[in-house]
Amino acid sequence: MTDERASGEEGDGASEAQNFYGRWARLYDTIATLPGVGSWRERAVESLDLSPGDTVIEMGCGTGANLPYLREAVGSEGTVVGVDFTRGMLDRARRHVAAAGWTNVHLVHGDATAPPIERADAVLASFVVGMLADPAAVVEDWLALVRSDGRVALLDATRSTRTSAKPLDAAFRFFVAASAPPTRQLRYPTPPWKPLDERVTAARRPLEEHTDEYHSTEFALGFVRLASGRVP
Ligand SMILES: C[S@@+](CC[C@H](N)C(=O)[O-])C[C@H]1O[C@@H](n2cnc3c(N)ncnc32)[C@H](O)[C@@H]1O
Repeated sequence: MTDERASGEEGDGASEAQNFYGRWARLYDTIATLPGVGSWRERAVESLDLSPGDTVIEMGCGTGANLPYLREAVGSEGTVVGVDFTRGMLDRARRHVAAAGWTNVHLVHGDATAPPIERADAVLASFVVGMLADPAAVVEDWLALVRSDGRVALLDATRSTRTSAKPLDAAFRFFVAASAPPTRQLRYPTPPWKPLDERVTAARRPLEEHTDEYHSTEFALGFVRLASGRVP
């Protein structure tokens, strides 16, 4: 499988994201694999209910932090395809794949909003839909490429609605502002956590409305949410 499918240009927001993640890929790789984060990733992959031999696509795979869990779930006879439009992130993912010696994990430079793969048993997107201009439409497209009985899962960080999480809300907002491309701004016309929350909510709607066995769960005091559903 070739790794050159699309330029992944979807407007200014996309190139800002590519510049940002390209610059911070190394640091991101460290944060993405911090202890604790792995358990959310594991749960997200479990929610896909994969079997050995399946084909799973990870949209916006970044530096590949989910790949070990996906590869484990589909086994050596399955296929994992990671799609990302930031070369620096994919380069890191490639190193991990090479170090692990996986021959059935393919990394594609492409746009998750115009997926370069037409059919799969499941789709995962973690910490990605908050960056999409029209997340509901994109998730609809992902549902359309998954076979009947296959699953789609979305793992995301959002503001927590829990009272117990209130003391950490300011820290979360700081984290989102620091990690939202571009980072040069001190003041935002719209604070970046607002569109993040709205986009994550919008992305879940097609799952709620068009899948069976819709399931939603929270981690980290409600700051991290997992939603999944089975395609009818
Ligand atoms: C916050 S990182 C998440 C990476 C990985 N999924 C993880 O859980 O660590 C977001 C990733 O999504 C990618 N991304 C965002 N929008 C994309 C798009 N439209 N097409 C492909 N990749 C995209 C970025 O390049 C970046 O690598």
